[in-house]
Amino acid sequence: MKSLSNGHDAPNAVQPECLAPVIRSQDYVLIVGGAGFIGSNLAHRLMEQGRRVLVFDSLARAGVEQNLRWLQARHAGRLMVQIADIRDRRDVDDAVRHASAVYHLGAQVAVTTSILDPVEDFEINAAGTLNLLEALRGQGKRIPLLFTSTNKVYGDLQDVALAQDATRYYPADPSICAQGIDETRSLAFHSPYGCSKGAADQYALDYAHTYGMPATVFRMSCIYGVHQFGTEDQGWVAHFLRCALRGEPITIYGDGKQVRDLLFIDDLIDALQLAHEQIERTAGRAYNIGGGPDNAVSLLELLALIEQLQGAPVRYSFDSWRRGDQRYYVSNTHKFQQTTGWRAQVSVQEGLTKLYQWLLDLHAQDAGQLKELGTAAQPAAHYANGSSNASGANDAAPLPKRHGLPAQKERTYGD
Ligand SMILES: NC(=O)c1ccc[n+]([C@@H]2O[C@H](COP(=O)([O-])OP(=O)(O)OC[C@H]3O[C@@H](n4cnc5c(N)ncnc54)[C@H](O)[C@@H]3O)[C@@H](O)[C@H]2O)c1
Repeated sequence: MKSLSNGHDAPNAVQPECLAPVIRSQDYVLIVGGAGFIGSNLAHRLMEQGRRVLVFDSLARAGVEQNLRWLQARHAGRLMVQIADIRDRRDVDDAVRHASAVYHLGAQVAVTTSILDPVEDFEINAAGTLNLLEALRGQGKRIPLLFTSTNKVYGDLQDVALAQDATRYYPADPSICAQGIDETRSLAFHSPYGCSKGAADQYALDYAHTYGMPATVFRMSCIYGVHQFGTEDQGWVAHFLRCALRGEPITIYGDGKQVRDLLFIDDLIDALQLAHEQIERTAGRAYNIGGGPDNAVSLLELLALIEQLQGAPVRYSFDSWRRGDQRYYVSNTHKFQQTTGWRAQVSVQEGLTKLYQWLLDLHAQDAGQLKELGTAAQPAAHYANGSSNASGANDAAPLPKRHGLPAQKERTYGD
């Protein structure tokens, strides 16, 4: 088994007591990818509710060690951390041993990176998920598993006829327009990321059918919220807001009329918990999860909302369309609503304001730390802030090494 130390030259990345080999005689909830955006919000919610949580994460995503520090500061008594890679079967076996429930959120998350390195993308997303499924099967007990898949498994939806107005595309079929895309759509894996997540999605469902494993799949649209270190490659709502705050220009690939439904993180955590609570009803099923038609916006419309929020124009320019980008994707969440009663509660306006405030606070902290270090802050058009790097991470702490290759310009909007 690998050491539980983080293996990076970043002594303040996480506190040593959480890295020490943990006593795992009592049950805990295992969150694979628990240091990430969704994982850290879920871990926080579970520990607030009094649950013990094991965060299993390789820290491959730049910036997520900040989420770990945030969790440690609030929940030291309930939090266990295993810095490890889902590709390592022995570490995964170790992690599931006393797990009472598992949320699998760990992934290579960017379409761009998957195009640059499809083998690593496959190994993490597809083979890594199979590792986890096998480790759970090896336990010989019914441990609920929730796997987070993506709308990308439906491909580019070219066959959905679209109309357009000044700011957005919308389906010509009024029923799709009113309800969104449901789970009866054929699967169409159009990128290495789509393939690796789609394979994992199908394996999770198959383990439910073949081995009776209580596994549920969420095919998620665009999730946004606090603790999201969005970049141009993934987490575009947070990326847009962060650029706006810094006065940095945003590149829109395509005409900006492409539409996505946004789901605020708190609503997603509600849905994840409901799926687990009602596992006997949800197991073996895939659900489309997103903000639905009420929370659908085009990129142009989101930019206008950001301008309203900060009371100043946002700088942006256009570049050519990217391969496979969906002009329209909005989740039809009726199946999950009917099963569990869940419904998205947070409007785009409200969620965006919360994320904006969190980013403001984060940048204020960064600026304060840099001031203490005697580093001059660089003023931006709307916001003075000295911490800036291409990954979207905070410069205050050394960053761990990332897996994968540097991001390239090609991207799509969705995750
Ligand atoms: N955020 C979205 O809008 C969205 C939409 C659809 C699907 N998803 C899926 O939800 C999940 C969580 O996404 P997120 O937005 O929180 O992303 P994130 O990048 O913040 O979290 C993923 C976590 O997985 C970890 N990780 C990466 N490779 C790993 C490996 N080999 N072993 C162990 N851990 C590893 C990363 O360090 C990171 O902490 C992912 O599976 C993603 O595909 C997210």
